[in-house]
Amino acid sequence: MVSTPLTDEQLQQDLEPIVARELDRHLSMAKDWYPHEYVPWSLGEDFEGPLDGRAWEESDQKFTDAARTSFIINLLTEDNLPSYHTEIATNVSQSGAYAEWLGRWTAEEGRHSIAIRDYLTVTRAVDPRALEDARMRHMQEGFHAINPGFLAGLTYVSFQELATRISHRNTGNASGDPLAEQLMARIALDENLHMLFYRNVIEAAFDIAPDQSMVAVLGSVRDFAMPGHGIEGFGRKAVEIAVAGIYDLRQHRDEVVMPVLRKWRVFERDDFGPEGEQARDEVAALMSDMDTQASRFEEKRDALKARLAGRG
Ligand SMILES: [Fe+2]
Ligand SMILES: [Fe+2]
Repeated sequence: MVSTPLTDEQLQQDLEPIVARELDRHLSMAKDWYPHEYVPWSLGEDFEGPLDGRAWEESDQKFTDAARTSFIINLLTEDNLPSYHTEIATNVSQSGAYAEWLGRWTAEEGRHSIAIRDYLTVTRAVDPRALEDARMRHMQEGFHAINPGFLAGLTYVSFQELATRISHRNTGNASGDPLAEQLMARIALDENLHMLFYRNVIEAAFDIAPDQSMVAVLGSVRDFAMPGHGIEGFGRKAVEIAVAGIYDLRQHRDEVVMPVLRKWRVFERDDFGPEGEQARDEVAALMSDMDTQASRFEEKRDALKARLAGRG
């Protein structure tokens, strides 16, 4: 039996009670926290310019090259919030639970860039001028949804929030600084709650429109790119971050995509029509490909590490 696909407007209407429920659940779980409490202000000193302080020097920088790259990528990603807000706002209703969620989510995300920037600036961990120049360039590029439409957007963010959670947490761990770890772990908790919100809404969408949801999931798994993929030199930087084990394809497959697919019971559902079945088969094939690619990358990385250890 082939049913008529629901329009984005119908889907939104049908999912509104779920969005309201998930918003309440989110508000009951989210804890307020204050970025300024996570920043070691006592380490700060004035910079050059109007305050005539000490200019940043390369010897000030902190962490390994890869951890620094990851902090910068994660911060620039958070900086691009106005573009994400716009993308979501153009896809959902401007009133009711959707609007209320969007406002809350935007305010919470805003904390992340504030906190990371303050931390990196006060500690002089990265070059603040280069960081600001990169922010200017990246924000002017903006962010455009990878696939258009309501379900495409919600399935993408279900994966993306979890990817960001893991990337923030591992970036903190890679810093070797307990203060940075504490900050990034705090941010990762927010990202986890965001993931739960989107993932639960899509779980309900699967019951309302199983085939359309499955097709949207296929698009998001197949075409996934991190939200910061538009950052200058992103490909090279992503490799550096993967080689350092901060975020790699194995983590992406096993800790991000698979757990979310399992929660949606994608591989067990028996309510798909031909379209849904086909999309599920394609997702299964993609997951298997990803597994092979991830193993290949891990082997190469192990070989590289062994070579470097041999040289050392
Ligand atoms: Fe964030
Ligand atoms: Fe988030």
